[in-house]
Amino acid sequence: MAAGFSIDLKGKRALVTGGSRGIGRAIAIRLAEAGADVAINYLRNKKPAEDTAAEVRSKGVRALLVKGNVADPATHDDTFAAIRDAFGGLDILVSNAASGVIKPALELTPKHWAWTMDINAAALLPLAQRAVGAMGEKGGHVVAVSSLGAVRAIPNYAAVGASKAALESLVRHLAVELAPRGVRVNAVSAGVVDTDALKHFPNRDLMLSESARRTPAGRLVEPKDVADAVLWLVSPLASMVVGQTVVVDGGYSVVA
Ligand SMILES: NC(=O)c1ccc[n+]([C@@H]2O[C@H](COP(=O)([O-])OP(=O)(O)OC[C@H]3O[C@@H](n4cnc5c(N)ncnc54)[C@H](OP(=O)(O)O)[C@@H]3O)[C@@H](O)[C@H]2O)c1
Repeated sequence: MAAGFSIDLKGKRALVTGGSRGIGRAIAIRLAEAGADVAINYLRNKKPAEDTAAEVRSKGVRALLVKGNVADPATHDDTFAAIRDAFGGLDILVSNAASGVIKPALELTPKHWAWTMDINAAALLPLAQRAVGAMGEKGGHVVAVSSLGAVRAIPNYAAVGASKAALESLVRHLAVELAPRGVRVNAVSAGVVDTDALKHFPNRDLMLSESARRTPAGRLVEPKDVADAVLWLVSPLASMVVGQTVVVDGGYSVVA
């Protein structure tokens, strides 16, 4: 960033789903560095959530931990009630939490399919509906975190890839509907990032080495790279970016 220029989110309040580990943690910390208070949603692992909350607070802002499954509508009621009590409202929703079954398409059961779609795609709708209410008339920002599997076929990625395609479509539809209300909706799609999520891939080592080798920028995407794109999207620098999926992959996806 050019000297003398900074993105100031002081007084803004953000919710990052899956904000305790990996990419979500980097986003929570980046938003906190810019001055935002951050509510951190997580599902099971309290310790990393507490560590991330401590890191957020170390930036001089407020952190709130909200535990719950984003696929469960009851979670959203509890989450937004806690945010209202602690922060009084919301300005930024980052829908980042994801899960999913990594298997060939022919081995996916209806349960695998529903689990993946519910967490990765369906959750954005009730989250966005509640976020818009919590943002009120001043509007705000919604950013969803997607992956290249939305538009490319990746081994064992049928369920997650399809869920991310649905997510990106919902982002476009929400963007058009919410722009007149002052809510900007976009997505960030990342290339391979070495987080715990990759432990579920049988071919993890090959994915990492091949991604690094084939990336024109010469290295893997890091959580911080995705967080920087989110920060840009929620800043005035991106005020006419609406309904887009910003790809952060070091050029991987444009190589023939
Ligand atoms: N890693 C990659 O290569 C990559 C590439 C492109 C896009 N992405 C996307 O980036 C996002 C973050 O991925 P990541 O690699 O950082 O994942 P990760 O390291 O596995 O972290 C997942 C986070 O989501 C939370 N979570 C999982 N299921 C949840 C649920 N049902 N409800 C609420 N929270 C839930 C986890 O909380 P607990 O610890 O409590 O379970 C954790 O905070 C995802 O949308 C993913 O698809 C990842």
